[in-house]
Amino acid sequence: MMYGANNNEFRIFSAHHFIVQFVSIPFRQRKNLNMAATPLISVAKRLLANVDADHADYSETIVNVAVRNYRDTDRFEREVENIFHRSPLLVALSCDLREHGDFASLVIAGRPILVVRGKDGIARAFLNICRHRGAPVTEECFGHSRRFTCPYHSWVYDTEGALVGNTDRAAFEGIDVDSLVELPTAEKSGAVFAILTPGLALDIDAWLGDMASALDILNLNNLYRHRDGLLAESGNWKATADGYVDGYHLGYLHGKSIGTKSITNRNTYDLYGPHVRLGFANKPLPAMRDLPDEEWELPNAMSLVHYIFPNISISGQPNGGLMMSRILPGSTPDRCQVEQFQYFREPMTTPEQIADADYKRDLYLAVTRDEDFATVIKITDAMAAIPEDVMRYGRNESGNQNLHRWAAALADGTTP
Ligand code: FES
Ligand SMILES: [Fe+2]
Repeated sequence: MMYGANNNEFRIFSAHHFIVQFVSIPFRQRKNLNMAATPLISVAKRLLANVDADHADYSETIVNVAVRNYRDTDRFEREVENIFHRSPLLVALSCDLREHGDFASLVIAGRPILVVRGKDGIARAFLNICRHRGAPVTEECFGHSRRFTCPYHSWVYDTEGALVGNTDRAAFEGIDVDSLVELPTAEKSGAVFAILTPGLALDIDAWLGDMASALDILNLNNLYRHRDGLLAESGNWKATADGYVDGYHLGYLHGKSIGTKSITNRNTYDLYGPHVRLGFANKPLPAMRDLPDEEWELPNAMSLVHYIFPNISISGQPNGGLMMSRILPGSTPDRCQVEQFQYFREPMTTPEQIADADYKRDLYLAVTRDEDFATVIKITDAMAAIPEDVMRYGRNESGNQNLHRWAAALADGTTP
């Protein structure tokens, strides 16, 4: 039975139809406060202990989240404004911007952004909005250029965002702008973060906390992206994010695809503020029980997902390839898009490497689109029929509990 080890609590909860919302900080989050992320061998040992105990890391309580919290338009607008427009968002990996002039452009929650490595080596983010009359100065997702020429009337900006040329100068003599609008930007642990509202303070150390040292273990600096991203549609953005912070479903929803190598629902959850590192036990793990630490083959023993709140999932290990997924909220609460990026430890150059990478890329898209996002769209649409009900997050779903606790608090302009 799904609630086997948790039967009494479930009965109590059912009898009173008691809605527990955001009442306590789980033990592990308190335990990890101000500590560096634990090394991966200790994650593997915790996973083995969970396999032996027949359950995942447990939080203290069941947490219910009201269905109206997913569908309410006012709440969704507060989420966009207070979370997506006012929190540091991962806008590129450092390896996407290796050289002066390397850039990425993207649109998140209605804000067009250009991220460029300057000649001083600093990565800066700007609103990708021309200061003449608002056209995007580039629409390439990734590229390399020392100049950005707006396609509308050919105003030109450099890699520091300065307006360095405009056509018909006489007509604009005395104009009141000289650069793109710069956004607060910081680079840390192999990733570039920006706040999509100009002028806000960005304290990246405070925002990432111990997630920074967890990301450091992944060596994000040492990666090469294979092609541009692939887009897929999903349902509500939080219900979509749920799929990335939930280790529970792997052997069920993905039981015939990416879940076959996993011992499902034995996950570790390391909560770092709003962010989470999930560990997944794989079937070869128990055979390593009696080996000395240095002989544990961690890439076989376990899988890892790092979720960087509010919208980035990185799936993979320190020395292997990675998939990064970015959730892009739509203009309404019921749909979002997910963009998926594939990275390797070396550039894919031979026809065989490229064919193999493309196969994995398409497979991952098919699994997430046909299994995860198809389910999330059905859930999102079904919520219209149960507006007074709740979504129920068990003690084995502390990643989800943490996500909703932080999303609710930040949407209201507070912290948990
Ligand atoms: S809008 Fe960019 S040059 Fe006119
Ligand atoms: Fe999934």
